[in-house]
Amino acid sequence: MSQLHDLCKFPTRPITVEYVSQLRSYLSSGVPATYTVEEAYNYENRVETEPATATTPLHLICTHVPTDLDEGETAVVDEMCDVLFEYGAGWSFTDVNNETPGCVLIRRGLKDWALYEKLVDAGVRAELLLRKVSEYDVEFVEEGEVVASEEAAAPSHNQQAFLESKLEYVDDALVTKERKDGVMMSWESDIMQLAADSITVNGSDDLCILNIGFGMGIIDTMLQQKNPRKHYICEAHPDVLAKMKQDGWFEKANVVVLSGRWQDELDKLLSQGTVFFDGIYYDTFSEHYSDMLELFDYVVGLLKPDGVFSFFNGLGADRQVIYEVYKKLVQIDLENYGLRCRFKEMRVPPELFKKGGESIWDDIKRSYWSCPIYYHPEATFMDFS
Ligand SMILES: C[S@@+](CC[C@H](N)C(=O)[O-])C[C@H]1O[C@@H](n2cnc3c(N)ncnc32)[C@H](O)[C@@H]1O
Repeated sequence: MSQLHDLCKFPTRPITVEYVSQLRSYLSSGVPATYTVEEAYNYENRVETEPATATTPLHLICTHVPTDLDEGETAVVDEMCDVLFEYGAGWSFTDVNNETPGCVLIRRGLKDWALYEKLVDAGVRAELLLRKVSEYDVEFVEEGEVVASEEAAAPSHNQQAFLESKLEYVDDALVTKERKDGVMMSWESDIMQLAADSITVNGSDDLCILNIGFGMGIIDTMLQQKNPRKHYICEAHPDVLAKMKQDGWFEKANVVVLSGRWQDELDKLLSQGTVFFDGIYYDTFSEHYSDMLELFDYVVGLLKPDGVFSFFNGLGADRQVIYEVYKKLVQIDLENYGLRCRFKEMRVPPELFKKGGESIWDDIKRSYWSCPIYYHPEATFMDFS
């Protein structure tokens, strides 16, 4: 343990500006703001192996900050975090409990503190910066340098592998046959209802809607109940398209099935320039945030001026603090397209958190959800918000 780490455990009260001066003096003398307890231990004990976990000064602050701070002390703790960020502290390092500093605050019931918001904002800044840096990074990657990890090549992450993998409809879920990745699960039905209501809110006799990603057809069944004039469904996977055929979706008078990836199908639709939607919903699989950013180009081209765009918001949902970072990030990104995004909150079923005993995730390879609240997004053009 170093002096920096000791300081971040608040050994004395009250917490005065002296803490900030001390912190500044350590950092300006060259101690990194990301210097971990594990590194300090290894240094003291001459251990040479790279530590697997990272307990940073921010972790210590979040773990040890007293809960009975007065106003002056709160301001000092806030400033200490600002100073750490100024010197390059990271928001996403994980400690021995696999917790980020934000996770520690959530566990301690301090999510309402301004400190938590600071960590989320740091995450947003870091993600934006990373995006900029990786744009340039591409130029420096030598051919053959990128070795795809097993995870990156898996159907859950790789669109081509997904489209080539066999799918299986089982009780309450659609999964990849081989790996049992959950493509869609019926616990999401309430979320689909929220979405179906959102994108048909301007419902009239003339309702024209687009859903991207059929999956189990949960939202499309709900959308049919709204009697749309035209209901477009874009779906890329051959097994899902076969199921849609079997269930008669191709024969429905008001349904147009766009068989293929949205990247190709929406391009054609946009070029036609004749179809515009009251509502668009996006819920695919094995795509990334960068794909959704590309989709925004089509959304602004295909959405009516008073239309509503929504999407399945699972961005970063396997860790609450990351979920909140993406919530802010997507708002910023949509604003760049002239869309204002608001969120409705919905409690997700408690079975999702059940540890031990029977669980929703029992037959699924990896649980993709661990947040108590779902943030349902509704984006509309700013002029009409
Ligand atoms: C999570 S499921 C959709 C679930 C759906 N919202 C429901 O209510 O059942 C995702 C679907 O998106 C499809 N999909 C994945 N990538 C796609 C793409 N690029 N274009 C069109 N569909 C895609 C998958 O084949 C899958 O059927």
